Amino acid sequence: MAKVQRIGIIGSGGIAAAHVRAYKQLPDVEIVAVADVIPGKAAQFVTNQELQEAIGYDDHRKLLELDLDGVSICTPNASHHVTTVDALRAGKNVLLEKPMSVTLEEAIDMAQVADETGNMLTIGFQPRYDPNMKVVNDIVQSGKLGKVYYVETGGGRRRGMPGGTFISKQLAGAGAMADIGCYSLDMALNALGYPKPLTVSAYTSNYFGTNPIHHPEANKFEVEDFGVALVRFENDVVLQFKISWAMHMDTLGSTMFLGTEGGLKVNPYGTGNWSGVWDGRVGEMKLFHDFMGKQTETPIPVTNTDMNLFFEKVRDFSEAVRDGRPAPIPGSQIVIQQAIIDGVLRSSAAKREVAIELPF
Ligand SMILES: NC(=O)c1ccc[n+]([C@@H]2O[C@H](COP(=O)([O-])OP(=O)(O)OC[C@H]3O[C@@H](n4cnc5c(N)ncnc54)[C@H](O)[C@@H]3O)[C@@H](O)[C@H]2O)c1
Repeated sequence: MAKVQRIGIIGSGGIAAAHVRAYKQLPDVEIVAVADVIPGKAAQFVTNQELQEAIGYDDHRKLLELDLDGVSICTPNASHHVTTVDALRAGKNVLLEKPMSVTLEEAIDMAQVADETGNMLTIGFQPRYDPNMKVVNDIVQSGKLGKVYYVETGGGRRRGMPGGTFISKQLAGAGAMADIGCYSLDMALNALGYPKPLTVSAYTSNYFGTNPIHHPEANKFEVEDFGVALVRFENDVVLQFKISWAMHMDTLGSTMFLGTEGGLKVNPYGTGNWSGVWDGRVGEMKLFHDFMGKQTETPIPVTNTDMNLFFEKVRDFSEAVRDGRPAPIPGSQIVIQQAIIDGVLRSSAAKREVAIELPF
């Protein structure tokens, strides 16, 4: 009989419930503990989610004293660092919700602790499991586009501002750029092979979030609801990255890769207030190239899939732990995207371009 995998969940808010739904579908996985800083919240979550075998704790360090194979970290962004480092040092493998952290310093530390302890740190970007994202990667990495020199990505919601912990500077640390921007950044950077960023020049604003006409918690809104950034990379590549939680526009456009031999356009998925590539779902794709001297456009078939991407990421984590595989989306790679988000926050505060310093 297969060994039962013992899982803990840290943070018992909205996304923790999605982790529970996914783990419940996996045979041989048992959720044995949940922790939340709000007294009694984890215990209530255990009851609500019908996790009969699980214990609720008010302190994640108590949960980490248990013998566990892995933990899902589902706390707001600003507590990703402390909970992840504590979990890795306690010998646990970690599936961490996105974005990896708020600052670059935190991300570097988390990746170093994963490396030192030999425990797994994987970041929960479920769009990676979309087969269409793999097509984007395959096209860019095939060399068919020639030298890729310019990438534009992002997307946005016409209206789709969260509230609660997501709009607090202290708890979330950043707004739309980190919250939904991390997905489009991951799509572009992963296709490019996560090149090293050199500088960022960014602008952010929060005209919608701080306006009571548009947000019921306008007086508590402390993060950006819109942002744009120009990022320079090694090897003469530049990326324009733009995101909105709210705007008077239908879309911020497509993701595009411009190369010397071809261009790839990836349209946002869907329409309406929540359109855009913000959640990583890929819409129509088209290749622009010359064929026998003629400017040609080739549509790339999109696989319509009902795949539950969230379930796939939880399953992959669980199976990677079981099989002793490396982290599916390693923290050591995502440090690079965190460097960009950190640069966005610094550049928009300083109102000028800033340099990115990476220790490797
Ligand atoms: N992958 C996705 O699709 C997806 C979707 C939504 C949210 N998220 C991410 O998940 C994280 C949580 O989002 P949410 O919507 O569940 O937020 P939430 O505010 O609903 O829940 C967070 C919970 O964590 C608790 N918490 C805070 N600090 C803690 C600590 N140190 N130890 C234990 N518990 C702590 C809070 O009390 C709260 O109950 C965020 O980082 C967010 O970006 C990911």
